[in-house]
Amino acid sequence: MAELRSGRLRIGVLISGRGSNLQALIDACARPDYPAEIALVIANRADAFGIERARQAGVTATVIPHRDFSDRESFDAALDDALRRAGVELLCTAGFMRILTAWFVERWRDRQINIHPSLLPAFPGLHTHERALAAGVRFSGCTVHFVRLGVDTGPIIAQAAVPVLPDDDADRLAARVLAAEHRLFPLALRLVAEGRTRIVADPDGSERVVIAGAAAPPEAMLNPLD
Ligand code: GRF
Repeated sequence: MAELRSGRLRIGVLISGRGSNLQALIDACARPDYPAEIALVIANRADAFGIERARQAGVTATVIPHRDFSDRESFDAALDDALRRAGVELLCTAGFMRILTAWFVERWRDRQINIHPSLLPAFPGLHTHERALAAGVRFSGCTVHFVRLGVDTGPIIAQAAVPVLPDDDADRLAARVLAAEHRLFPLALRLVAEGRTRIVADPDGSERVVIAGAAAPPEAMLNPLD
């Protein structure tokens, strides 16, 4: 088991499947200058390949099968208990396919971030790529956001945009977005772990993330170009 290094933010990662975003976080955390480390990975399914990825990397991983629990409340309490015992300070959901209870979301308020494969607030929920294609948008992408109650809602930390191309189907678009996810999630986590994100609430209750010292991209991307 890898020894956890001090001075880094201890993160937990919740997954349900393939775990390619988890892999991006594992790879980022392996870099000596990265400000976070993975204290615990939890999957709600025993066959989640991400568990194998974690073990290969020497990261502590466990399965808490949701089917072992009679209701969402007791499942979420078990998640919370495991995360707290591992000393998790920030929780990342990366392809975690369970809806969390209001109790859990509130308990981890401002300490939970999620990645979603669309440019939120467009296309929250499932089948995002099919819906983006059906809408005829010229760009799609991915979003990392703090988690609030409601599906794929909460203050946005960072987004990556990718073009939608004429020959795209949902799989081709998903692959292009996924490659961007693997860059974006470590970047967003770094901003949070370095304490550079601040959530501000407007008088109407809407929330935004203000980021200290971040560079902006130079100019607009157009699609198509001609
Ligand atoms: C990603 O597209 C993520 O944005 C979405 O579910 C997918 C998980 O993929 N929430 P992986 O398990 O990280 O490979």
